[in-house]
Amino acid sequence: MIDVADNVIAGVDRFSTRRQLAPEQRDALTREILALKRELNAVILAHNYQVPEIQDLADYVGDSLGLSQQAARTRAEVIVFCGVHFMAETAKILNPGKIVVLPDKDAGCSLEESCPADKLAKLQATNPNFWTIAYINCSAAVKALSDVICTSGNAEKIVRAAPAERDLLFVPDENLGQWVMECTGQPMTLWRGNCYAHVEFRRDSILRLRARFPDAKVVVHPESLREVRDLADAVCSTEKMITYCRNSPAQRFVVVTESGIIHRMQKECPGKEFICTPVFDAMRMPSDNCRCSECKYMKLNTLEKLRDCMARLAPRIELEPAILERARLPIERMLEISARP
Ligand code: 13P
Ligand code: SF4
Repeated sequence: MIDVADNVIAGVDRFSTRRQLAPEQRDALTREILALKRELNAVILAHNYQVPEIQDLADYVGDSLGLSQQAARTRAEVIVFCGVHFMAETAKILNPGKIVVLPDKDAGCSLEESCPADKLAKLQATNPNFWTIAYINCSAAVKALSDVICTSGNAEKIVRAAPAERDLLFVPDENLGQWVMECTGQPMTLWRGNCYAHVEFRRDSILRLRARFPDAKVVVHPESLREVRDLADAVCSTEKMITYCRNSPAQRFVVVTESGIIHRMQKECPGKEFICTPVFDAMRMPSDNCRCSECKYMKLNTLEKLRDCMARLAPRIELEPAILERARLPIERMLEISARP
Protein backbone atom coordinates (compact mmCIF):
# COMPACT_ATOMS: atom_id res chain seq x y z
CA MET A 1 0.00 0.00 0.00
CA ILE A 2 1.44 3.39 -0.92
CA ASP A 3 1.39 6.00 1.79
CA VAL A 4 0.60 9.14 -0.17
CA ALA A 5 1.44 11.62 2.59
CA ASP A 6 4.84 10.03 3.29
CA ASN A 7 5.75 9.93 -0.35
CA VAL A 8 4.90 13.56 -0.96
CA ILE A 9 6.80 14.83 2.05
CA ALA A 10 9.82 12.68 1.21
CA GLY A 11 9.70 13.96 -2.36
CA VAL A 12 9.77 17.59 -1.35
CA ASP A 13 12.52 17.04 1.19
CA ARG A 14 14.73 15.27 -1.29
CA PHE A 15 14.19 17.96 -3.84
CA SER A 16 14.74 20.88 -1.52
CA THR A 17 18.15 19.48 -0.54
CA ARG A 18 19.10 19.18 -4.23
CA ARG A 19 22.31 21.10 -4.75
CA GLN A 20 22.09 23.97 -7.19
CA LEU A 21 25.10 23.85 -9.51
CA ALA A 22 27.23 26.93 -10.03
CA PRO A 23 27.16 28.02 -13.71
CA GLU A 24 30.78 26.92 -14.27
CA GLN A 25 30.05 23.45 -12.78
CA ARG A 26 26.99 23.13 -14.96
CA ASP A 27 28.97 24.11 -18.07
CA ALA A 28 31.81 21.69 -17.26
CA LEU A 29 29.39 18.79 -16.69
CA THR A 30 27.50 19.64 -19.86
CA ARG A 31 30.76 19.56 -21.86
CA GLU A 32 31.70 16.17 -20.35
CA ILE A 33 28.24 14.73 -21.13
CA LEU A 34 28.29 15.95 -24.72
CA ALA A 35 31.80 14.50 -25.22
CA LEU A 36 30.64 11.14 -23.82
CA LYS A 37 27.61 11.28 -26.09
CA ARG A 38 29.83 11.58 -29.18
CA GLU A 39 32.22 8.87 -27.97
CA LEU A 40 29.40 6.39 -27.26
CA ASN A 41 27.23 7.30 -30.24
CA ALA A 42 24.46 7.85 -27.70
CA VAL A 43 21.13 9.63 -27.75
CA ILE A 44 19.83 11.45 -24.67
CA LEU A 45 16.05 11.28 -24.22
CA ALA A 46 14.44 13.33 -21.45
CA HIS A 47 10.92 13.54 -20.07
CA ASN A 48 9.17 16.91 -19.69
CA TYR A 49 9.49 16.57 -15.88
CA GLN A 50 13.30 16.48 -15.82
CA VAL A 51 15.29 19.32 -14.26
CA PRO A 52 16.04 22.23 -16.65
CA GLU A 53 19.77 21.49 -16.93
CA ILE A 54 19.01 17.99 -18.24
CA GLN A 55 16.27 19.19 -20.59
CA ASP A 56 18.64 21.79 -22.03
CA LEU A 57 21.22 19.26 -23.23
CA ALA A 58 18.91 16.40 -24.26
CA ASP A 59 18.50 15.43 -27.92
CA TYR A 60 14.77 15.13 -27.39
CA VAL A 61 12.45 16.28 -24.59
CA GLY A 62 8.84 15.11 -24.58
CA ASP A 63 6.02 13.07 -23.08
CA SER A 64 5.91 9.30 -22.70
CA LEU A 65 4.45 8.84 -26.17
CA GLY A 66 7.02 11.02 -27.93
CA LEU A 67 9.81 9.35 -26.00
CA SER A 68 8.69 5.85 -27.04
CA GLN A 69 8.41 6.99 -30.65
CA GLN A 70 11.95 8.40 -30.47
CA ALA A 71 13.24 5.20 -28.84
CA ALA A 72 11.60 3.14 -31.60
CA ARG A 73 13.35 5.07 -34.38
CA THR A 74 16.77 5.93 -32.95
CA ARG A 75 19.94 4.82 -34.74
CA ALA A 76 22.15 5.55 -31.74
CA GLU A 77 24.01 2.63 -30.18
CA VAL A 78 23.38 3.69 -26.60
CA ILE A 79 20.13 5.16 -25.22
CA VAL A 80 20.49 7.38 -22.19
CA PHE A 81 17.05 7.73 -20.63
CA CYS A 82 16.47 10.70 -18.35
CA GLY A 83 13.10 9.79 -16.94
CA VAL A 84 11.89 6.97 -14.73
CA HIS A 85 12.58 3.24 -14.81
CA PHE A 86 9.51 2.08 -16.78
CA MET A 87 10.38 4.54 -19.57
CA ALA A 88 13.93 3.20 -19.87
CA GLU A 89 12.52 -0.36 -19.85
CA THR A 90 10.21 0.56 -22.73
CA ALA A 91 13.21 1.83 -24.69
CA LYS A 92 15.04 -1.45 -23.99
CA ILE A 93 12.04 -3.55 -25.07
CA LEU A 94 12.04 -1.65 -28.38
CA ASN A 95 15.85 -2.00 -28.69
CA PRO A 96 16.83 -5.35 -27.18
CA GLY A 97 20.29 -5.26 -28.77
CA LYS A 98 21.22 -1.79 -27.49
CA ILE A 99 22.57 -0.54 -24.21
CA VAL A 100 19.98 1.49 -22.27
CA VAL A 101 21.08 3.38 -19.16
CA LEU A 102 19.33 5.73 -16.75
CA PRO A 103 20.94 8.12 -14.26
CA ASP A 104 19.27 6.70 -11.12
CA LYS A 105 17.97 3.15 -10.91
CA ASP A 106 15.65 4.13 -8.03
CA ALA A 107 13.65 6.47 -10.26
CA GLY A 108 10.43 4.46 -9.98
CA CYS A 109 6.75 5.36 -10.18
CA SER A 110 3.87 4.93 -7.72
CA LEU A 111 1.65 3.68 -10.55
CA GLU A 112 4.14 0.96 -11.45
CA GLU A 113 4.37 -0.07 -7.77
CA SER A 114 0.59 -0.30 -7.46
CA CYS A 115 0.29 -3.08 -10.02
CA PRO A 116 2.40 -6.20 -9.42
CA ALA A 117 2.31 -8.65 -12.34
CA ASP A 118 1.17 -11.63 -10.21
CA LYS A 119 -1.88 -9.72 -8.96
CA LEU A 120 -2.76 -8.60 -12.46
CA ALA A 121 -2.47 -12.21 -13.72
CA LYS A 122 -4.91 -13.31 -10.98
CA LEU A 123 -7.45 -10.68 -12.00
CA GLN A 124 -7.07 -11.56 -15.69
CA ALA A 125 -7.76 -15.22 -14.84
CA THR A 126 -11.24 -14.25 -13.58
CA ASN A 127 -12.35 -13.25 -17.11
CA PRO A 128 -10.81 -14.79 -20.25
CA ASN A 129 -12.61 -12.15 -22.31
CA PHE A 130 -10.59 -9.28 -20.81
CA TRP A 131 -8.68 -7.04 -23.26
CA THR A 132 -5.98 -5.52 -21.09
CA ILE A 133 -4.98 -1.94 -21.83
CA ALA A 134 -1.95 -0.97 -19.74
CA TYR A 135 -0.92 2.63 -19.20
CA ILE A 136 2.78 2.78 -20.05
CA ASN A 137 3.51 3.61 -16.37
CA CYS A 138 3.89 -0.08 -15.43
CA SER A 139 6.62 -2.70 -15.27
CA ALA A 140 7.85 -4.73 -18.25
CA ALA A 141 6.26 -7.80 -16.61
CA VAL A 142 2.86 -6.07 -16.63
CA LYS A 143 3.38 -4.98 -20.23
CA ALA A 144 4.10 -8.62 -21.06
CA LEU A 145 0.64 -9.55 -19.69
CA SER A 146 -1.14 -6.81 -21.65
CA ASP A 147 -2.83 -6.65 -25.05
CA VAL A 148 -1.96 -3.05 -25.78
CA ILE A 149 -0.12 -0.15 -24.10
CA CYS A 150 -1.29 3.45 -23.99
CA THR A 151 0.04 6.78 -22.77
CA SER A 152 -1.89 9.82 -21.60
CA GLY A 153 -1.33 11.24 -25.11
CA ASN A 154 -3.14 8.42 -26.95
CA ALA A 155 -5.29 6.64 -24.32
CA GLU A 156 -8.57 7.71 -25.91
CA LYS A 157 -7.49 6.51 -29.36
CA ILE A 158 -6.23 3.18 -27.99
CA VAL A 159 -9.50 2.54 -26.13
CA ARG A 160 -11.58 3.42 -29.19
CA ALA A 161 -9.50 0.94 -31.23
CA ALA A 162 -10.12 -1.98 -28.84
CA PRO A 163 -12.05 -5.00 -30.20
CA ALA A 164 -15.78 -4.40 -29.60
CA GLU A 165 -16.47 -7.94 -28.39
CA ARG A 166 -13.92 -7.82 -25.53
CA ASP A 167 -14.35 -6.62 -21.93
CA LEU A 168 -11.89 -3.80 -21.31
CA LEU A 169 -9.55 -3.92 -18.34
CA PHE A 170 -7.57 -0.70 -17.82
CA VAL A 171 -4.49 -0.74 -15.55
CA PRO A 172 -2.97 0.75 -13.42
CA ASP A 173 -4.23 4.39 -13.28
CA GLU A 174 -7.87 4.64 -12.19
CA ASN A 175 -7.98 8.41 -12.79
CA LEU A 176 -6.72 8.23 -16.36
CA GLY A 177 -9.05 5.23 -16.87
CA GLN A 178 -12.02 7.15 -15.49
CA TRP A 179 -11.23 10.13 -17.75
CA VAL A 180 -11.03 7.89 -20.84
CA MET A 181 -14.35 6.29 -19.91
CA GLU A 182 -15.87 9.79 -19.73
CA CYS A 183 -14.40 10.70 -23.16
CA THR A 184 -15.37 7.49 -24.94
CA GLY A 185 -18.48 6.30 -23.07
CA GLN A 186 -16.77 2.89 -23.07
CA PRO A 187 -17.18 0.93 -19.82
CA MET A 188 -13.96 -0.53 -18.41
CA THR A 189 -12.84 -2.40 -15.33
CA LEU A 190 -10.30 -0.14 -13.62
CA TRP A 191 -7.26 -1.11 -11.56
CA ARG A 192 -7.14 0.96 -8.32
CA GLY A 193 -3.76 2.67 -8.79
CA ASN A 194 -2.82 6.33 -8.89
CA CYS A 195 0.03 8.79 -9.29
CA TYR A 196 0.90 9.89 -5.77
CA ALA A 197 1.90 13.36 -7.04
CA HIS A 198 -1.13 14.16 -9.22
CA VAL A 199 -3.74 13.06 -6.65
CA GLU A 200 -2.44 15.75 -4.31
CA PHE A 201 -3.94 18.50 -6.49
CA ARG A 202 -7.30 19.54 -5.06
CA ARG A 203 -10.32 21.50 -6.18
CA ASP A 204 -9.80 24.21 -3.52
CA SER A 205 -6.32 25.16 -4.81
CA ILE A 206 -7.60 25.47 -8.37
CA LEU A 207 -10.64 27.51 -7.33
CA ARG A 208 -8.43 29.96 -5.42
CA LEU A 209 -6.10 30.31 -8.40
CA ARG A 210 -9.07 30.85 -10.71
CA ALA A 211 -10.37 33.57 -8.40
CA ARG A 212 -6.98 35.26 -8.25
CA PHE A 213 -6.24 34.91 -11.99
CA PRO A 214 -9.65 34.97 -13.72
CA ASP A 215 -8.04 35.38 -17.16
CA ALA A 216 -5.91 32.22 -16.80
CA LYS A 217 -6.64 28.96 -18.62
CA VAL A 218 -6.38 25.82 -16.48
CA VAL A 219 -4.54 22.85 -18.04
CA VAL A 220 -4.77 19.54 -16.19
CA HIS A 221 -3.04 16.17 -16.59
CA PRO A 222 -5.52 13.25 -16.69
CA GLU A 223 -3.75 11.48 -13.80
CA SER A 224 -5.47 14.09 -11.60
CA LEU A 225 -8.70 13.51 -9.66
CA ARG A 226 -12.06 14.09 -11.31
CA GLU A 227 -12.81 17.05 -8.96
CA VAL A 228 -9.77 18.77 -10.51
CA ARG A 229 -10.31 17.62 -14.11
CA ASP A 230 -13.85 19.04 -13.93
CA LEU A 231 -12.36 22.54 -13.46
CA ALA A 232 -10.05 22.32 -16.48
CA ASP A 233 -10.11 24.22 -19.76
CA ALA A 234 -8.03 21.37 -21.22
CA VAL A 235 -7.20 17.86 -19.95
CA CYS A 236 -4.21 16.40 -21.77
CA SER A 237 -0.73 14.84 -21.75
CA THR A 238 2.28 17.02 -20.98
CA GLU A 239 3.16 17.40 -24.68
CA LYS A 240 -0.37 18.43 -25.58
CA MET A 241 -0.35 20.91 -22.68
CA ILE A 242 2.63 22.68 -24.24
CA THR A 243 0.92 22.77 -27.65
CA TYR A 244 -2.28 24.07 -26.04
CA CYS A 245 -0.44 26.91 -24.26
CA ARG A 246 1.52 27.79 -27.42
CA ASN A 247 -1.62 27.98 -29.57
CA SER A 248 -3.94 29.64 -27.06
CA PRO A 249 -4.43 33.42 -27.23
CA ALA A 250 -4.45 33.43 -23.39
CA GLN A 251 -1.41 34.94 -21.68
CA ARG A 252 -1.64 33.12 -18.36
CA PHE A 253 -2.01 29.42 -17.50
CA VAL A 254 -2.55 27.45 -14.32
CA VAL A 255 -0.57 24.25 -14.85
CA VAL A 256 -1.83 21.17 -13.00
CA THR A 257 0.96 18.65 -13.38
CA GLU A 258 4.57 18.16 -12.31
CA SER A 259 6.29 21.53 -12.28
CA GLY A 260 9.30 20.41 -14.39
CA ILE A 261 7.15 21.13 -17.43
CA ILE A 262 7.17 24.87 -16.71
CA HIS A 263 10.74 25.09 -18.07
CA ARG A 264 9.69 24.07 -21.59
CA MET A 265 6.53 26.15 -21.42
CA GLN A 266 8.55 29.27 -20.61
CA LYS A 267 11.10 28.52 -23.33
CA GLU A 268 8.51 27.82 -26.02
CA CYS A 269 5.94 30.46 -25.08
CA PRO A 270 7.97 33.58 -24.33
CA GLY A 271 5.98 36.38 -22.70
CA LYS A 272 3.30 34.02 -21.31
CA GLU A 273 2.96 33.32 -17.60
CA PHE A 274 2.73 29.84 -16.07
CA ILE A 275 1.46 29.25 -12.57
CA CYS A 276 2.24 25.89 -11.02
CA THR A 277 -0.42 24.55 -8.71
CA PRO A 278 0.37 24.42 -5.01
CA VAL A 279 -0.27 21.20 -3.15
CA PHE A 280 0.24 21.84 0.56
CA ASP A 281 -0.78 25.43 0.98
CA ALA A 282 -3.46 26.64 -1.36
CA MET A 283 -2.50 30.28 -0.74
CA ARG A 284 1.16 29.90 -1.69
CA MET A 285 2.01 31.30 -5.12
CA PRO A 286 4.84 30.51 -7.51
CA SER A 287 6.59 33.73 -6.59
CA ASP A 288 7.21 32.02 -3.23
CA ASN A 289 9.30 29.43 -5.12
CA CYS A 290 6.57 26.84 -5.02
CA ARG A 291 8.21 23.43 -5.28
CA CYS A 292 5.34 21.33 -4.14
CA SER A 293 4.06 19.75 -7.35
CA GLU A 294 7.08 17.57 -7.94
CA CYS A 295 7.60 13.89 -8.62
CA LYS A 296 10.24 12.64 -6.22
CA TYR A 297 11.23 9.94 -8.71
CA MET A 298 11.70 12.23 -11.69
CA LYS A 299 13.75 14.58 -9.57
CA LEU A 300 16.27 11.86 -8.59
CA ASN A 301 18.08 12.43 -11.89
CA THR A 302 20.81 15.08 -11.80
CA LEU A 303 23.46 16.27 -14.23
CA GLU A 304 26.18 14.52 -12.21
CA LYS A 305 24.32 11.19 -12.22
CA LEU A 306 23.73 11.61 -15.93
CA ARG A 307 27.47 12.06 -16.54
CA ASP A 308 28.26 9.07 -14.28
CA CYS A 309 25.79 6.71 -15.95
CA MET A 310 27.33 7.52 -19.33
CA ALA A 311 30.89 7.14 -18.06
CA ARG A 312 30.13 3.75 -16.43
CA LEU A 313 27.37 2.59 -18.76
CA ALA A 314 25.43 1.76 -15.60
CA PRO A 315 22.82 1.48 -14.16
CA ARG A 316 21.82 -0.50 -17.21
CA ILE A 317 18.40 -1.96 -18.05
CA GLU A 318 18.47 -5.75 -18.26
CA LEU A 319 15.31 -7.81 -18.77
CA GLU A 320 14.51 -11.50 -18.97
CA PRO A 321 14.42 -12.54 -22.65
CA ALA A 322 10.86 -13.96 -22.37
CA ILE A 323 9.53 -10.70 -20.89
CA LEU A 324 11.44 -8.61 -23.42
CA GLU A 325 9.92 -10.52 -26.27
CA ARG A 326 6.34 -10.68 -24.93
CA ALA A 327 6.24 -7.02 -23.87
CA ARG A 328 7.20 -5.83 -27.35
CA LEU A 329 3.92 -6.76 -29.03
CA PRO A 330 1.59 -4.47 -26.98
CA ILE A 331 4.02 -1.55 -27.35
CA GLU A 332 4.27 -2.03 -31.11
CA ARG A 333 0.48 -2.29 -31.27
CA MET A 334 0.26 1.07 -29.48
CA LEU A 335 2.75 2.69 -31.87
CA GLU A 336 0.85 1.35 -34.87
CA ILE A 337 -2.57 2.56 -33.60
CA SER A 338 -1.05 5.93 -32.67
CA ALA A 339 0.29 6.43 -36.18
CA ARG A 340 -3.17 5.93 -37.74
CA PRO A 341 -4.80 9.14 -39.00
P1 13P B 1 2.90 12.01 -20.08
O1 13P B 1 4.35 11.89 -20.31
O2 13P B 1 2.14 11.02 -20.91
O3 13P B 1 2.38 13.38 -20.23
O4 13P B 1 2.60 11.54 -18.57
C1 13P B 1 3.14 12.13 -17.48
C2 13P B 1 3.68 11.19 -16.48
O5 13P B 1 3.26 11.13 -15.36
C3 13P B 1 4.79 10.37 -16.83
O6 13P B 1 5.10 9.60 -15.77
FE1 SF4 C 1 4.85 8.09 -11.80
FE2 SF4 C 1 3.41 10.18 -11.05
FE3 SF4 C 1 6.05 10.39 -11.09
FE4 SF4 C 1 4.69 10.23 -13.41
S1 SF4 C 1 4.60 11.89 -11.94
S2 SF4 C 1 6.56 9.10 -12.86
S3 SF4 C 1 3.02 8.88 -12.80
S4 SF4 C 1 4.85 9.00 -9.77
